[in-house]
Amino acid sequence: MIRLSIAVALVAVFCPPDARGQSSEPKPTEGLPVTDPLVIAKCSTCHKKDDKGNLSRISWERTTPEGWEEVIKRMVRLNGLTLTPDEARSIIKSLSASHGLAPEEAKPVAYMPEHRIVDEAYPSEVIHSACASCHPFGRVASFRRSPEEWKLLVDMHEALYPVTDLTAFHRRRSPGAAAPGDNSATPAGPPPPQPVDQAIEYLTKTYPLETPEWAAWRARSRPPKLAGKWLASAHIAGKGAYWGEVNIGAGAAPDEFTTTIRLEPIGGGPVIERSGKVAVFNGYAWRGRSTGAASGSAPGDIPAEMRESMMIDPDQSQAQGRWFWGSYGEFGVDVKLWKATGVASIVGLDRPSLKAGSQTQRIRIVGDSFPAQLSPADVDFGSGVSIRRVVSHTPREVVVEVDVAANAINGRRDISVGQAVLPNAIAVYDRIDSIKVIPGTSIARLGGASQRPKGYQQFEVMAYNRGADGKPGTADDVELGPVEVAWSMEEFYETFGDDDKEFVGTLNPSGLFTPALDGPNPQRKQMRNNYGTVWVVATAKSEKDQNGRPLSARSYLVVSVPLFIIWDQEVAP
Ligand code: HEC
Ligand code: HEC
Repeated sequence: MIRLSIAVALVAVFCPPDARGQSSEPKPTEGLPVTDPLVIAKCSTCHKKDDKGNLSRISWERTTPEGWEEVIKRMVRLNGLTLTPDEARSIIKSLSASHGLAPEEAKPVAYMPEHRIVDEAYPSEVIHSACASCHPFGRVASFRRSPEEWKLLVDMHEALYPVTDLTAFHRRRSPGAAAPGDNSATPAGPPPPQPVDQAIEYLTKTYPLETPEWAAWRARSRPPKLAGKWLASAHIAGKGAYWGEVNIGAGAAPDEFTTTIRLEPIGGGPVIERSGKVAVFNGYAWRGRSTGAASGSAPGDIPAEMRESMMIDPDQSQAQGRWFWGSYGEFGVDVKLWKATGVASIVGLDRPSLKAGSQTQRIRIVGDSFPAQLSPADVDFGSGVSIRRVVSHTPREVVVEVDVAANAINGRRDISVGQAVLPNAIAVYDRIDSIKVIPGTSIARLGGASQRPKGYQQFEVMAYNRGADGKPGTADDVELGPVEVAWSMEEFYETFGDDDKEFVGTLNPSGLFTPALDGPNPQRKQMRNNYGTVWVVATAKSEKDQNGRPLSARSYLVVSVPLFIIWDQEVAP
């Protein structure tokens, strides 16, 4: 009850916006009018409409479809809004277009709807602890707001979660200290602003309501015309490279589509066939789901249902993103689509690298509309690689045999077949200098004993050549693809004698980590839960370093308790 009245006061504060223009405050930001009759009908009962068509609060914010979904869910949960599922979908679609992000603004936070676990970059440590200790900073960076709205957002946090004030927004200062924790006798100058004030200042400057990108997108945006054949290249962690096609058909509305998906492992194996539905928000945000036969019931097997989150390029010729599944969206397909235009194009190769000095290497190039006549002179692999012969060719695939000169320069090469070019498609290397475990840091979640599911983690390995600078571990290292490794876990020494690696879970021979059960473990000191931190170690089966030791690499894995509250970031057709 108290919560609700504070919340209602927050609406009132900003209602009507004109009233504040009278004071000596800086001129208030112009709002973005709401014209959709359904949004006006449903929201204006509490969010007052002004004479310019602005709805209080709503007109001074822009965000992603997921951002709008979350706001609207709270309006229903806490503030008394009622909507049918159809109305909710329609309002999210409408606000995502009239009050959305430009593609350039959405791209840096695409990992949020794509459910990728990433190491976020923070503007500063202070803002990290103020605004990204409960949720990812990506949630913050998914919004654009007027200065007033950034302040009201802080009020919303303080009203709903009063503890925020003490734990994140403000720091207690010892009298006379220059900064929190500063115990020096002679404080220099005034104390720094409180974390929350530093955050508001940064957010107001960095994520304003009006931006050149948004102005450009409002002019440039056009309805998605996606129907037709699209070529696909994909990578599934733990399974490898795929190619194929997605046929897109018209759906129930002009911005909705149906899909027929076929993905084939480039190295051979079972084909993935699915059909799906897609809704496109704001002209570029692809949100879909597909169904198909499950490949099995083990963790990481291709499931009966997958979700899709992709970004369509503004010219509508390409799309890329992630299709995902698993309780935390932890399994996924990295996907890139190109609209098939009938012009020859290369989608991929059956291997990522070639060793210098190797002979008669057979390579399969897959793509579309390859020429009917093809001689070795029509195929090019760049310097130091000669085409011995074209073994076979069809419009969809070309098989060639190549020789690689012993002195070929290390590095990536473009591949061309007739007029088609795939840039940086294959690497040539003299030796493998290092390997890396991907991802470099990650999180898995215990589960299964409580009502919460486990969160798995699939690891992969990537081999590298030292690149032009001759030094391994630098930015110019050349990716060569996976190598055979043995997987193991090592203790990450953090808490003395806790033996995490005996308890957190198991790693199988293909690099899939399965976390242990959650809940107190009687076998463990102090009945601790099975949480912990470990190194995941990959040791190459044949590649050695300069001293004759097997190449190895490790990755930091945190095995945590289940996520008990999931703020869903999922918009789907
Ligand atoms: C029954 C009253 C009510 C209705 C109807 C309502 N809201 Fe709200 N809205 C509130 C209250 C109260 C707040 C302030 C507390 C909060 O943020 O939850 C608020 C805040 C907001 C905010 C600011 C939150 C932020 O991010 O800081 C947005 C945006 C918003 N509402 C959007 C909507 C939209 C869109 C609709 C219509 C689909 C809607 N509201 C309908 C009561 C309502
Ligand atoms: C104590 C934990 C906590 C901290 C600290 C925190 N947030 Fe949040 N934030 C939440 C929760 C929980 C929600 C979801 C509220 C809901 O929808 O019920 C949320 C929602 C949001 C939203 C979505 C807004 C909306 O209207 O739904 C944004 C944007 C946001 N936070 C930004 C920030 C910023 C900026 C800061 C730092 C100034 C911050 N958060 C600090 C817990 C936190």
